[in-house]
Amino acid sequence: DGQDPHVFITLGASGDLARKKIYPTLWWLFRDNLLPANTVFFGYARSKTSIEEIRQKCDQYMKVKPNEEERYNEFWSLNHYMAGGYDSRTDFEKLNQELSRFETGSVANRIFYLALPPSVFEEVTVHIRNACMALKGWSRIIIEKPFGKDSATSQKLSNHLASLFTEQQIYRIDHYLGKEMVQNLMTLRFGNRIFNPTWNRDNIASIQISFKEPFGTQGRGGYFDEFGIIRDIMQNHLLQILTLVAMEKPASCHPDDIRNEKVKVLKNVKQLEIKDVVLGQYVGNPDGEGDAKLGYLDDKTVPEGSVTPTYALAVLKINNERWDGVPFILKCGKALNDRKAEVRVQYKDVAGDIFDGKGKRNELVIRVQPGEALYVKMMVKTPGMAFNMEETELDLTYGSRYANVKLPDAYERLVLDVFCGSQMHFVRSDELSEAWRIFTPLLHKIENEKIKPIPYVYGSRGPKEADELLLNNDFTYTGSYKWKNPKL
Ligand code: BG6
Repeated sequence: DGQDPHVFITLGASGDLARKKIYPTLWWLFRDNLLPANTVFFGYARSKTSIEEIRQKCDQYMKVKPNEEERYNEFWSLNHYMAGGYDSRTDFEKLNQELSRFETGSVANRIFYLALPPSVFEEVTVHIRNACMALKGWSRIIIEKPFGKDSATSQKLSNHLASLFTEQQIYRIDHYLGKEMVQNLMTLRFGNRIFNPTWNRDNIASIQISFKEPFGTQGRGGYFDEFGIIRDIMQNHLLQILTLVAMEKPASCHPDDIRNEKVKVLKNVKQLEIKDVVLGQYVGNPDGEGDAKLGYLDDKTVPEGSVTPTYALAVLKINNERWDGVPFILKCGKALNDRKAEVRVQYKDVAGDIFDGKGKRNELVIRVQPGEALYVKMMVKTPGMAFNMEETELDLTYGSRYANVKLPDAYERLVLDVFCGSQMHFVRSDELSEAWRIFTPLLHKIENEKIKPIPYVYGSRGPKEADELLLNNDFTYTGSYKWKNPKL
């Protein structure tokens, strides 16, 4: 019921994630009247700070427009803060008392967001379970990666959570599942007749899913170095996209029907081997400006001589009837030449060519960010008198076609889903465990043998060796065509 009181508790309220993502998300949802009417917000962390100080730290990320000041003040007046230990049952009992003060009616629900370092996940969840569960309504727990570091540690965390909460209470965030074009994959594939009949090994040569960022670790090197790009991006964000691109049609749009299909396709993915990957680490560009001069190892928070990859390309194979033999190429890296995330479905060459090899392959490109777009690269007769051919595109650029539609931030959608109790865009524990199965042997090998990543220059396309692996995997990069975003 929209009138039932809800308390949203951010654990780790004074931290980076809370400041940059969670408070802004809550504010935008509140501003747009999307939250249930009687929602209050509670911050909890170790720091002896105050809600005023938290507000100050958040301000720069909140994007408050001049005419929104009043609403903004209203938002903060519904915010509260309590300092307490993560290991103290007494403090969580106090938190519970504080929360109860806002729960005067007969129903009251609680959402806990764990914006915490993984080292305290376990103790905090025990205290929530023992001292802080809603007494007059439901409780839901939102957690963020890292969900362990490999199969064993992830399973340990899953078992721990399962001993405290039901799967229906646990919301594992992968914020890529909240992005417009990722959510669009289901409709695109199953709401159209045109793509699905060709969505298979008979027609598709390869599929590339890539993520590029034009900046390095930006002082987050301490966290990053322990995990590396494979755990930071590939095992979660890119693999989630892969499952939505490759899965069979679910029985319905029910969250568990969808997640059953996602698990099924992951089960068909073979474990990665070192021969399937190219690893890189960025080095400074002496001619670059500012940060670009600095390599990964120049980050003070990165241990000396670290071999943690900041770039990875991996070729996955799905052993089922639809995809046997089709390379799924996952590519991600920091400090590259571009900011971009996209899915590129490359079709095979046309059989029985009558155009002297002038044809280029069709591609369906799903551009996740920036500038959401869908376009199909295709051949047409060069317009005009000549009977030549050239590459062009069927283009659906959201910025022009849906110019007046505001696309919400991924976190806004996902946090709202938690209020509504929809787990469609959250990762189920069996899905997570399959994801780790695929990557764990590779990660262990890289770490045990301290395999050296290939250096690439800050701001470049990444290691050249990656292009070779692409060529060997039926992905043709002609470089003859560049899509122009009409908005840019
Ligand atoms: C996070 C990673 O999950 O995703 C970061 O930890 C990365 O390293 C970020 O920068 C990218 O998210 P987005 O939404 O900016 O593409």
